Amino acid sequence: MKGLILSGGRGTRLRPITYTRAKQLVPVANKPVLFYGLEALVAAGIRDIGIVVGDTQAEIREAVGDGARWGATVTYIEQDAPRGLAHAVLISEAFIGGEPFVMYLGDNLLNRGIAGFVEEFARERPAAQILLARVPDPQMFGVAELANGRVVRLVEKPAEPRSDLALVGVYMFGPSVFDAVKAIRPSARDELEITDAIQHLVDAGLEVRPHVVDGWWKDTGKLEDILEANRLILDTIEPRIEGTVDDASRVEGKVIVSPGAIIERSVVRGPVVIGADARITHAYVGPFTAIGDRVELRDTEIEHSIVLEGARITDLANRIEDSLIGRHVVISRLPVRPSAYRFMLGDNSEVSIRW
Ligand code: TTP
Repeated sequence: MKGLILSGGRGTRLRPITYTRAKQLVPVANKPVLFYGLEALVAAGIRDIGIVVGDTQAEIREAVGDGARWGATVTYIEQDAPRGLAHAVLISEAFIGGEPFVMYLGDNLLNRGIAGFVEEFARERPAAQILLARVPDPQMFGVAELANGRVVRLVEKPAEPRSDLALVGVYMFGPSVFDAVKAIRPSARDELEITDAIQHLVDAGLEVRPHVVDGWWKDTGKLEDILEANRLILDTIEPRIEGTVDDASRVEGKVIVSPGAIIERSVVRGPVVIGADARITHAYVGPFTAIGDRVELRDTEIEHSIVLEGARITDLANRIEDSLIGRHVVISRLPVRPSAYRFMLGDNSEVSIRW
C-alpha cells in the first residue's frame, strides 16, 4: 500500500500567506499541517509516500526531506500546474505502480487517524473507499449520496445538496482509478475533478465504499478553518515548560513553553503553545493561541490566533483575536504624532480595526 499526499494547488483562499509560503506548511499548534497527514499515513503502516508538489516545491522538499524523520521514504511528483485532484492522481501512476493507495490532501486534518479505514480497505479491496463527514453547509463541499450503504452519486458543491455528507480529503483507491482519471474531462473550472473520477467508478458498477468519520475533520484551506484546527489540536496538548517563566508571570492551564522562550511579567492562559526563543513581555496570551519560534510580544494582548515565526507585536491598545499573522510581520504603535494608522501591507492583506 502506498501513500499520495497532495501538496500543490493554488491556495488562493489563504492569500496573502500563500504568496510566500505553501499552505500545507502553515503551522497548526506550531506544526505544519502537512506533517499531521504524513504522521497519519505512517501510523497506518504506510511508508512509501509520494508527495505531489507545484510552485512551492522547494520549501516542501526542504521541510519534509526524504521522509527519514518519519521512518518513511518520500518521492516527489511534480505537477506543472494545479489541474485538479484527479490530475494529481493521473501523474502519479508510475509511482503508484499498480498498488492500492491512500490519497491524502496535504491541508486536511483528522483527529482520529485513518489506520482502521486503511486496514479495512487493504483487506476487502473495493475499487475505492471514501471518507465522509456530516457538515452544516454541504453546498461548500463535494457531497455524496448513499443508497444501501453504497455511494450512488457525488456532486461537487451542489446548489441543492441531497445529503449533508461531505467528502473528507482522504481517499483510498485501487488501480481502476487510473482508468477513471484518464476517461474524465476537465470541469467548468478546468480541473480534473476527483468527484468525477469516483463517479466514473460508480457508473462502471465498481464498489465505492463510504465511511462516515467519527471525531472531527478540518480542511485548513481558509483562515477560520485553520484557527478552528489550531483550537482543536491545542485542546489535546500535553503541557510542558522548557523555557523560562519569571516569578511575576502566571501560566495557567495547558501550556507548552518551548526551549529558549522567555515569559516575563505576563499572563499565559492555555491551551497555548509558545515556540522556541519567543519572548513574551508584559503581555497576555489567551486560550487557543500558537506563538511561533522567535516571536516577540510586548505590551500586547492576544488570543485565539496564530503568530508565525519571527513576528514582532508591541504596544497595542486593544486585544488581537481570530488572527493569522505571517512571518516577520511587525505590528507596533507609533510613539509620535500625528496619531494615524500607518501600513505596509502585501496584496490581499486584511486588516480590521475597531473604531
Ligand atoms: P484545494 O484546497 O481544493 O485547492 P487549492 O490549493 O488550489 O486552494 P484554493 O481553492 O484556496 O485556491 O486543494 C486541496 C489540496 O490538494 C491542497 O493541499 C492542494 C492540493 N492540490 C494539488 O496538489 N494539485 C491540484 O491540482 C489541486 C487542485 C490541489
